Amino acid sequence: MITYEHDSRAFYLETDNTSYVIRILNDSIVTHSYYGAKIPREDLAYYNVPAAINFSASIQTGSGCNSPEALRYEYPTFGRGDYRSPAVIVQGCDGSDVNELRYLSHRILSGTPKVADLPHLDTNTDPLQTLELVLEDPVSGYEVCLYYTTFDACDVISRHAVIRNITDSPIQIKALCSASFDIESSDFDMITLQGSWARERHVERYPLHHGVSAISSRRGASSHQLNPFAAIAERSATEHSGAVYGISLIYSGDFRLAAEVDHFDTARIQIGLNPETFSWTLNPGAVFHTPEAILTYSQTGLNGMSQNLHNVCRQHLGKCADPNLKHPIIINSWEAMYFDFNEAKMIQFIKDCAGLGIDTVVMDDGWFGHRDDDFTSLGDWFIYDRKLPNGLTHIIETCRQNGMNFGIWFEPEMISRDSELFKAHPDWCIHLPHREPIESRHQLILDMSRPEVVDCIFEQMSKILRNYDISYVKWDMNRHMTDNGSALLPQGCQNELAHRYMLGVYHLIARLEAQFPHVFFEGCSGGGGRFDFGMLYYMPQIWTSDDSDAVERLKIQYGTSFAYPPCTMVAHVSACPNHQTGRTTPMETRGNVAQICSFGYEFDVGRLSEEDKAAIRSQIIKHRQMEDMINHGTFYRLVSPFETALCAWQMVSKHQNQAFVMVAWQTGAPQPKPLYLKLHGLDPTKQYHIPQLGIARSGATLMHVGLAVTMPANVDHASVAFDLIDQQA
Ligand code: DGJ
Repeated sequence: MITYEHDSRAFYLETDNTSYVIRILNDSIVTHSYYGAKIPREDLAYYNVPAAINFSASIQTGSGCNSPEALRYEYPTFGRGDYRSPAVIVQGCDGSDVNELRYLSHRILSGTPKVADLPHLDTNTDPLQTLELVLEDPVSGYEVCLYYTTFDACDVISRHAVIRNITDSPIQIKALCSASFDIESSDFDMITLQGSWARERHVERYPLHHGVSAISSRRGASSHQLNPFAAIAERSATEHSGAVYGISLIYSGDFRLAAEVDHFDTARIQIGLNPETFSWTLNPGAVFHTPEAILTYSQTGLNGMSQNLHNVCRQHLGKCADPNLKHPIIINSWEAMYFDFNEAKMIQFIKDCAGLGIDTVVMDDGWFGHRDDDFTSLGDWFIYDRKLPNGLTHIIETCRQNGMNFGIWFEPEMISRDSELFKAHPDWCIHLPHREPIESRHQLILDMSRPEVVDCIFEQMSKILRNYDISYVKWDMNRHMTDNGSALLPQGCQNELAHRYMLGVYHLIARLEAQFPHVFFEGCSGGGGRFDFGMLYYMPQIWTSDDSDAVERLKIQYGTSFAYPPCTMVAHVSACPNHQTGRTTPMETRGNVAQICSFGYEFDVGRLSEEDKAAIRSQIIKHRQMEDMINHGTFYRLVSPFETALCAWQMVSKHQNQAFVMVAWQTGAPQPKPLYLKLHGLDPTKQYHIPQLGIARSGATLMHVGLAVTMPANVDHASVAFDLIDQQA
């Protein structure tokens, strides 16, 4: 719900539990008044920032003299006395970077305007509203439309900006945030998700300090290293209590997310494209759209913040919000065979999987060009006839005969030097004229900013998807950007490449999805190197990490859940000793850890014991019983693997008639302490049967007394799972 109060010149953006208030000062300066727990629509003019402060610029704001560096700007600029980070820097038609934005007009729209060519939150069926707030700098020659959409039930506000050149000459955008807001206190911690390949999204918490705390990517991808998400949490906030803001970006490329604390201890929070690898020439009359940011606020701690993000993702984000979405249970050939397969081996692999309950067999890397290793063939998306002399027909028929679908791997954004494509188009890779482009995993990146490159890959992939009965595509991307240069872009526009690349990638995916609506796309980037809301818009699940070890996955999945719902995380039970860590974990633990995610397998079933095969059958039966809860229920983090040797989490179904609790020990101990675990989100009046304990107890007892869980002594990597089933259901 969005309202404008004429007398106080204030906008009230309200969700079920939050308010966001913007106020226009008498001289048209647009200020941020409040973001937090829901308040009545009262005039906040009384709650003033310091007027004129010493040793600072001063301006007349109608209410008197004010210092810009003490004002809380809704969309700050550079060069007129506010020395904190600007939300926008434009080198305007006067040749300078000094900008000043003032209120021009506003409209309250129903629904949400499309963010051109970019992934975004959709309204779906909800009657949502959007505030369009237009600010102008006539001297620099541009106007900015700020868009705010309220997602009431999710307590989420989405924001993006559209900038328009209103002069007769080109202007240069040097920085442009999707969202910026100032909060009056800096007594907060910043929580971010850091990592590397095979160690994605580990939770890191640190206090805000004077100056800038920032995370960013300059890699051409959202990256394994720092995810485009942060929580800004009250210092005392826990998983279950305290005030927490959540900030994220619906984007898969370079980003920057920062919190700057100034000398009055106020904090400026900003998210958007990374200005270090972005600039844009805006011609007269042209517009530029930023990616969309997601903001949320919760008073029920980190879990509350995560649940808001999970809900908005599952209800409003592209494919994730498809009401008919069903995540298939897959088996992937990668860790079973790597590059070493042929038709006979693949057919045997499929036959070995028959009867286990698996939905889809996915043939991973190695089926195209002449790819026997990672030195060749990216860009040549035709069947490798030495390995697969009869094409895919027999393989797909074997899947069908055994009651399974067939999926295939592509890495569409890449090119190998050893490929037909490179021979034909050596300038189609990202490169600069006077430098040899650097390889990573022996490959180069295709210049997806060029329409003819996108067309060529679209045609090649379409041919495969048209000619064969393929229901699933795993979309991989295995290196980061270097040598940012495009043979097509004019010299002065080379800094547009990283963003134009992302637009090209999104365009390619959108075209393929429109052409092949029955195909389910899974995202991947060397594991979880591009795990973001941008990719999730198109692909409702992402391979969470190349590290499939159950113990490592505790931290990875726990951290990922800060922003992303478990149903978006692909988790596979894989072989032991584990291929990444060499660790052996019980089959039960591997199943328990993966169960709440998009579930699957990653090993050679032919080598498994009958006991393991029986375990797979029962894991799949269990997963099917939990599917609806995983897709629509509420996830709670209970015990952090970053703070203890344990990890515990819980899932509760939408109508609270089912729950699943998982506890895992990272390492064993000679005299393990019992874990007293209070459950969350249950219906206090319902009686829940717990088959593993042979008891039924009320939700009230399970939430206030809890479960006492003991670990067997000296057992490494043990785990237990409890099912809670409403007896009346
Ligand atoms: C990286 C992915 O994360 C793996 O699962 C696998 O698909 C390989 N690429 C194949 O090259």
